[in-house]
Amino acid sequence: MKKLVVLTGAGISAESGISTFRDSGGLWEQFRIEDVATPEGWRKNPKLVTEFYNARRKQLLSVEPNFGHIGLVKLEQSFDVTVITQNVDNLHERAGSKSIIHLHGELTKVRSERFDNLIYELSPDKYEITIGDKCERGYQLRPHIVWFGESVPMLEKAIQETSEADIFVVIGTSLNVYPAASLVHYTKPDTPIYIIDPNEININNPNWHYIRKVASEGVKELIDRLNNV
Ligand code: OAD
Repeated sequence: MKKLVVLTGAGISAESGISTFRDSGGLWEQFRIEDVATPEGWRKNPKLVTEFYNARRKQLLSVEPNFGHIGLVKLEQSFDVTVITQNVDNLHERAGSKSIIHLHGELTKVRSERFDNLIYELSPDKYEITIGDKCERGYQLRPHIVWFGESVPMLEKAIQETSEADIFVVIGTSLNVYPAASLVHYTKPDTPIYIIDPNEININNPNWHYIRKVASEGVKELIDRLNNV
């Protein structure tokens, strides 16, 4: 089986009702990155940060995967598929993808602010944490999210997968945030790259195959194209 590696961003979950970050009306128009997505923001106002991620988790309870996520699972019949996602939602899991790398962490998990290896899965009916919730060694729990300025522990694995890809697909990311955006550069020179996005993205490479559609329609077209090569 050929190895298909897919890098996804917020755009793949947009049709499920989760807003993206940088589109008009996106999350970064409503919140300042430095307030809610940096270690400094956490130190300054942990309550605000906790509430921000509690709201994101609450939203997860009312959304469902769309055909963007589901179509990637269907591709597992013909390809060895790995999903590398920048998303912190769990819609790839809920669609049924078997191999998922979360580059920027997971909303459904929290960890000790002192001991990075003390990670806890929240149960779906207890998606909220509050200031005062502690790890087993007595330190405050924080969101299991990679904030700006923090290292990206899953990067090495993502690079490894990308470098082995026979086909690489990018769905719904503005490719604005590094190191995730740099992954495309780790593909083999002859690996075809497909980009699914309804909008123009800031990198235009003539060797890339652009599918200018929303994720659900774009993934349908991708399946047709890949089944005909
Ligand atoms: P962005 O908000 O930067 O980009 C979203 C992309 O999705 C844009 O290129 C849109 O054109 C595209 N898009 C919008 N609707 C779409 C749809 N229905 N189908 C397909 N594509 C669509 O989001 P990301 O690139 O994911 O990190 O942002 C990267 C990181 O920046 C996030 O993981 C997050 C954020 O700050 C952290 O918080 C650490």
